Amino acid sequence: MSKSKTRCVGILTAGGDCPGLNAAIRGVVKAAIGTYGIKCIGILDGFRGLVENRTILLDDRAVSGILTYGGTVLGTSRDKPHKMPMGGNILDMTQVAVDNARRLQIDCVVCLGGAGTQKNALRLAAAGLRVVTLPKTIDNDVVRTDITFGFDTALGIATEAIDRLHTTATSHQRAIVVEVMGHNAGWLTLGAGIAGGADVVLIPEIPYDPRRVSEHLLERGRAGKRFSIIAVAEGALSVEEARAADARSAEEKPGVKGRTREAKEAKRRREHGKKEAPPVSADGEEIDSDRPRSPTQTVVIRRGDTEVERTYHTVQEPKASQLARHLQKLTGMEARVTTLGHVQRGGIPSSMDRLLCTRLGTAAARLIAEGRYNVMVSVQGDTCEPVPLEQVAGRIKTVPEGHPWIEAGRLVGTCFGD
Ligand code: F6P
Repeated sequence: MSKSKTRCVGILTAGGDCPGLNAAIRGVVKAAIGTYGIKCIGILDGFRGLVENRTILLDDRAVSGILTYGGTVLGTSRDKPHKMPMGGNILDMTQVAVDNARRLQIDCVVCLGGAGTQKNALRLAAAGLRVVTLPKTIDNDVVRTDITFGFDTALGIATEAIDRLHTTATSHQRAIVVEVMGHNAGWLTLGAGIAGGADVVLIPEIPYDPRRVSEHLLERGRAGKRFSIIAVAEGALSVEEARAADARSAEEKPGVKGRTREAKEAKRRREHGKKEAPPVSADGEEIDSDRPRSPTQTVVIRRGDTEVERTYHTVQEPKASQLARHLQKLTGMEARVTTLGHVQRGGIPSSMDRLLCTRLGTAAARLIAEGRYNVMVSVQGDTCEPVPLEQVAGRIKTVPEGHPWIEAGRLVGTCFGD
C-alpha cells in the first residue's frame, strides 16, 4: 500500500444527479481505501449534509455493486453553503461547513458536481477547506475538461428518443418538437440532434428566427417529406428573446457575455479596448454559471418527525410547447411536443461513462494521496489532469461558433434557425 499524505476524505454529490455518480464514488473509495489506505466518509444530500453534519461511512462494502446504479447513493441537493435556507432565513453557512469537516477529521472533501458545484467548492477552499472536484453533468458545460461524466449517457437517451420520434412523425405527417435539457448550453441538443438526424436544431448559442424554421419545414413539405423533427434546447431563445435577455444582463452584470451577434460584438470591442484580456480560458466563456433557468422557491416539508427545507425551481411551461404552437400557426402543420426532461438523467450509465467515472474517481484518489488539493480532475485526451479550481469556477463552456458538430450539421442540411 502506498503512503498517503491524506488520512480521511469526505465525498459529496451536489447539483442535479446523473448516471455515473455512483461509479465515480466507487472509483474514489475503492482506490482511496484499497491503494492508499485513506478512510472515506460519505456526506449526504450535497453541501447541506456537510452543514447539517449528516454522514455515513463509505467502506468497501458500501460501494460494492453500485457501479451500474443511476442517481447517487449519497443523495444530492442544489443548496449552496453561502446561501443556505435555514429556519426560514437564507444564511451563510460556509464556516459551519468548514468546522464540521474539521470535527469529522476530514482532510479533504471530494465534490462531484457541475459548474455551480465548482464555484461552491472554490468558496469552501477560500474558507480553508481542502477540496478536489470532479466534472459531472449531462450538460457538458464545465470548462477545462474535454467532457463531463453523465453527458454520454444522456446523449444516448436523447438520440434514441429522436430516433423513435421519426417513425411516429412520418406515420402522421407531423412536426414533432422535442425538448432536450442542457441548461444554458447546447451540447446535448446539438449532439443528439445531429446524431438522431433532427431536421432543425435550436441551441442557446444560436438565437433562432421562427420564420426561418417555418420556411425550412414548408420547404421539406414541398420536397415531399412527410414529417419534421425539431430538437430544441430548453435554454434556446429566439432572436427577440435573446435581445431582451442581453439587455437585462447588460443592466445587471455589465461584463457578462450575451448571445446575440450585437452583444458578442460589444463584448469583443470592450475586451479589445482593455490592456489585458480578462482571465478567460480558451474553451471557457465568461458567463454566469448561476444564471437560473426559472425562478426558485424555498419550502418546508415534513419528513417523519423532522421538518426539511428545500429550494427548487418552479415548474415552467416547456420551451417546446411555445415553439410548437408558433410553428403550427406559421406552417399549418400539425405539431406535437415531447419533453424528454429527467428521463435524460435517469437509469444506468453508459459504458463510456462508467469508464470515465472510474478513471476520474481513481485519479482523484491518487491526487489526494499525493496531497494535491483545490483542483478539478479534468479529462484531457487519454489522461486525467488536475486543473486549478480558480480556472474552472464561475464559467461555463458553451458550444463555440463553427464547432465541427455545427459545421457537419449545416453540410447535411440541418436548419439552426439562423
Ligand atoms: O444540470 C443538469 C440539468 O438537468 C439541466 O440540464 C437542467 O436545466 C436542470 O438540471 C434541471 O434541474 P432540476 O433537476 O432541478 O429540475
